[in-house]
Amino acid sequence: MRGLHAYVPGEQPKIKGLIKLNTNENPYPPSPLVLQAVKDAVDGRLRLYPNPTAQALRERLAELHGCGPENVIVGNGSDELLALATRAFAEPIAAVDAERPADAARATIQYFTPSYSLYPVLAEIHGARKNAVPLRPDFTLPSVAELRRGKLWNFRAALTYVTTPNAPSGRAYASADLSALCAAQRGVVILDEAYVDFAREHALELWRAHPNVLIARTFSKAYSLCFQRVGYFVGHAELIAALDRIRDSYNVNGLGQIAALATLEDLTYYRRNFARLIATRERLTRELTGLGFAVVPSQTNFLLLRPPRFAAEEWLGRLRDRKILVRWFSYPEVSEYLRITIGSDEEADTLLTTVRGILRSGADAA
Ligand SMILES: Cc1ncc(COP(=O)(O)O)c(C=O)c1O
Repeated sequence: MRGLHAYVPGEQPKIKGLIKLNTNENPYPPSPLVLQAVKDAVDGRLRLYPNPTAQALRERLAELHGCGPENVIVGNGSDELLALATRAFAEPIAAVDAERPADAARATIQYFTPSYSLYPVLAEIHGARKNAVPLRPDFTLPSVAELRRGKLWNFRAALTYVTTPNAPSGRAYASADLSALCAAQRGVVILDEAYVDFAREHALELWRAHPNVLIARTFSKAYSLCFQRVGYFVGHAELIAALDRIRDSYNVNGLGQIAALATLEDLTYYRRNFARLIATRERLTRELTGLGFAVVPSQTNFLLLRPPRFAAEEWLGRLRDRKILVRWFSYPEVSEYLRITIGSDEEADTLLTTVRGILRSGADAA
């Protein structure tokens, strides 16, 4: 464990006036109904344990997605469920005869690169074999035929994570392509739809046709609720039960359950926010493209872009000096890029003015 590469969350600095566009948080607050429900619940009842199975929330989610509560599990953020999945569905490499391909597959956790940087960390913690397979150079999804030809992908891997739409690229994948991949895969496939509310298409229904598929969703991004830590999976009852057996008894805190339930009572409010964020995203894409940034088409609440003139890491510093925090990842597939969360319209205006200023100062210095 000493050599473990821990997951590195984006910074949460307390700098006055800072515009925080580094962790894909939603600039809009939770609905007033949610704030009220949480406030109303803060009294002497805090001494009681919450519902251990998040029963009311699971029932409401089941209603929303047209399934039964046995098809839904709620976690302390979707991160908790992603971690449980490694333990439920993959063996540690030390527990199998790694020389035998079928055994090695039972200990293999695979994912595309770049995608959510937590997956390799989870695989390492579990002592499983990691299989990281590159996306196409433009971050689109390789077809099943390409994966077969490339010979890197393991169609028998115990567990496969696919982020869709993807982070940090922002690209969405077509449901038909995901369906073909799920059908070709023997092990469990988790379609991590953390950002799906900002996309044109979702793949939630794929769990019905593919008994090996789990859909991961979260209240953190589109529903402005990172602070409360609530995420969930939808899938076949057997897979859900396998996760349920190994979760902590009270894994989802009471205020989180209350906040998530109230969120589902006010979806109109959130859909308005999705539309606003999508409009801001499209405007930023146009304007930044005009300023010389190579912007990857995004269906999420962030943009991945290759900046002009200076290296991405230098842009990170120059923006930070001007109180705008964005994200830069040092790993090779994206080290030439910045990831910028879509904030409010005012934050977008400030970002654009600041970027123009930086470009001008660079031109003056040249
Ligand atoms: C792709 C992806 N999945 C899951 C998560 C985790 O979300 P949660 O807050 O529900 O743990 C994130 C958060 O950054 C993410 O980017």
